[in-house]
Amino acid sequence: MRFFSVASAAAAVTASLFLSVSATKVSTKEVSGRYFVDSDSGEAFFLKGVDYQPGGSSEFTDGSDPLSSPETCTRDIVLFEKLGINVIRVYSIDPTLDHDECMTKLAAAGIYLLLDVNSPIYGQSLNRDEPWTTYTEPYLTHVFSVIEAFAGYNNTLGFFAGNELVNNKTSAEASPNYIKAVVRDMKNYMSNHIIRQVPVGYSAADDLNYRVSLANYLEAGPADEAVDFYGVNAYEWCGDNTFEGAGYDVLVNDFSNYTIPVFLSEFGCNESPPRLFQEVASIFSKNMSGVFSGGLVYEYSQETSDYGLVSIADDGSATMLSDFTVLSSKYAAATTTGLATEEASARPTTYLSYYNNISSNTTLPDTLASTVIANGLNSTYNRGAFVAISDLASNYSIYDVSGNALSASMTTKYDITIPTASAIDQTDSDADDDDSSSGSSASASASASGSDSSSASSTSSSSSATSSSASLSNFVSSSEKMGVAALLAVALGLTVV
Ligand SMILES: *[C@@H]1O[C@H](CO)[C@@H](O)[C@H](O)[C@H]1NC(C)=O
Ligand SMILES: *[C@@H]1O[C@H](CO)[C@@H](O)[C@H](O)[C@H]1NC(C)=O
Ligand SMILES: *[C@@H]1O[C@H](CO)[C@@H](O)[C@H](O)[C@H]1NC(C)=O
Ligand SMILES: *[C@@H]1O[C@H](CO)[C@@H](O)[C@H](O)[C@H]1NC(C)=O
Ligand SMILES: *[C@@H]1O[C@H](CO)[C@@H](O)[C@H](O)[C@H]1NC(C)=O
Ligand SMILES: *[C@@H]1O[C@H](CO)[C@@H](O)[C@H](O)[C@H]1NC(C)=O
Ligand SMILES: *[C@@H]1O[C@H](CO)[C@@H](O)[C@H](O)[C@H]1NC(C)=O
Ligand SMILES: *[C@@H]1O[C@H](CO)[C@@H](O)[C@H](O)[C@H]1NC(C)=O
Repeated sequence: MRFFSVASAAAAVTASLFLSVSATKVSTKEVSGRYFVDSDSGEAFFLKGVDYQPGGSSEFTDGSDPLSSPETCTRDIVLFEKLGINVIRVYSIDPTLDHDECMTKLAAAGIYLLLDVNSPIYGQSLNRDEPWTTYTEPYLTHVFSVIEAFAGYNNTLGFFAGNELVNNKTSAEASPNYIKAVVRDMKNYMSNHIIRQVPVGYSAADDLNYRVSLANYLEAGPADEAVDFYGVNAYEWCGDNTFEGAGYDVLVNDFSNYTIPVFLSEFGCNESPPRLFQEVASIFSKNMSGVFSGGLVYEYSQETSDYGLVSIADDGSATMLSDFTVLSSKYAAATTTGLATEEASARPTTYLSYYNNISSNTTLPDTLASTVIANGLNSTYNRGAFVAISDLASNYSIYDVSGNALSASMTTKYDITIPTASAIDQTDSDADDDDSSSGSSASASASASGSDSSSASSTSSSSSATSSSASLSNFVSSSEKMGVAALLAVALGLTVV
């Protein structure tokens, strides 16, 4: 009965579905040589980002995360748009929660996600000094459930398999081959169970003892155990400084031969406030763009460590701090189109015999999750997918640095294509993942009816009904998780278009 009523609702909107054409879709990005490139246009993608974990990454607990609450993420997306970013990094999520609305809204705003698969909860990360004590099947099951929860969103740019695991002599001796074991297991899981091979990388503490060695170790070897990208957490540029004074010339030189994308996964030293973010001009200049693919500022929200761009009050209102204004002007001045790109050499598929200052052991521990990698997770996991979205206004107030209330509605730059279940799942094991014609998708405008935003979708939706080959059965199967109410929201949005 429930199924039937969903089908009826779907039938009611099918006619208008064919009139809706995505003006622009949120395409995936993939790794090509030393750049992330748009899967469709091939254009290089330079990251202008912020690190995003309100509440602080070490305070994370199960039950809520930055992408599970539409109310808070909608508020923050409004601010991301004002900041002018195209990517966020989130350090910890609870894979059992529903992230569909926040991820769809981020996609509609043109914002991609870099996600760490670990969390500070016991059993959800490796112990860097004794990784063999924590590299277990339940740990890997957690990692795979994060993959399942996020691989279905086109705006998932990549997964970090680890963050700053190598940070002193003990961890440099103990961790490197375990980092690679996790990378290998993630890649093997995706190649068996996920259609899209989401890039897998590592985020490194910028310790000069390990900078070159660890980066070279992680990019090398057989493809299924090599990282696809590398993030450097760099805090060398403090206060008023220069490209050479901050050692950025050395940083660029150290990665000048790197064969995969490298970017600053954290930057923004706060030792001599106010932060000037002068490094942004260098990062997005020819001095760096041939080697680095941009970066992310640490961090969005004001926490005890005092790196915030935005202060969030107990009532949920958000106020820009002065760093926000400075960074937004620097990001606005930095163009990402037309930056110089350089060809990379082929990735080294064999290891060097010796890596300075880190373990040179290139034998990886055997996986402890071969059954899960072969069979997939059982039915208790959550698989994310885009949904229809409608509430684009933040329920929380947003204030500028002088305390003036600002318009608190996000705008949608992209239409979101709601995929079929079969477009995400290649195991074909879901009961509702029926028969049908391969690969077709139901295209639905994500922009809300009655939105005050001047969204691209409302102005540029042309009337050519193009190749939309959505079949009703596909739409129904993808819509089951949306529920009738959300489906009606789609119907409303579509009939307005
Ligand atoms: C995801 O990206 C691919 C490649 O850019 C594109 O063909 C596809 O239509 C997109 N899917 C969705 C659901 O937006
Ligand atoms: C704001 O609150 C209303 C009423 O509770 C709710 O329907 C709406 O979804 C909320 N908006 C967001 C963006 O969460
Ligand atoms: C590295 O740090 C760990 C704590 O994480 C500590 O137990 C260990 O002694 C340190 N090793 C060295 C060589 O300082
Ligand atoms: C190895 O570490 C030493 C200090 O412990 C440092 O001086 C040296 O530059 C490092 N070597 C490399 C290749 O990173
Ligand atoms: C990069 O490669 C060139 C040419 O092979 C070499 O001279 C240089 O030392 C390399 N740089 C680094 C940082 O490895
Ligand atoms: C680029 O590099 C040159 C030479 O090192 C330096 O003089 C200049 O200030 C740098 N420019 C930027 C924007 O980093
Ligand atoms: C290399 O790592 C593997 C897997 O952890 C281990 O079995 C082996 O003993 C290590 N080899 C050396 C020389 O430490
Ligand atoms: C599914 O997997 C989880 C995590 O490994 C496990 O706790 C649970 O018992 C499994 N359930 C079934 C029905 O196998």
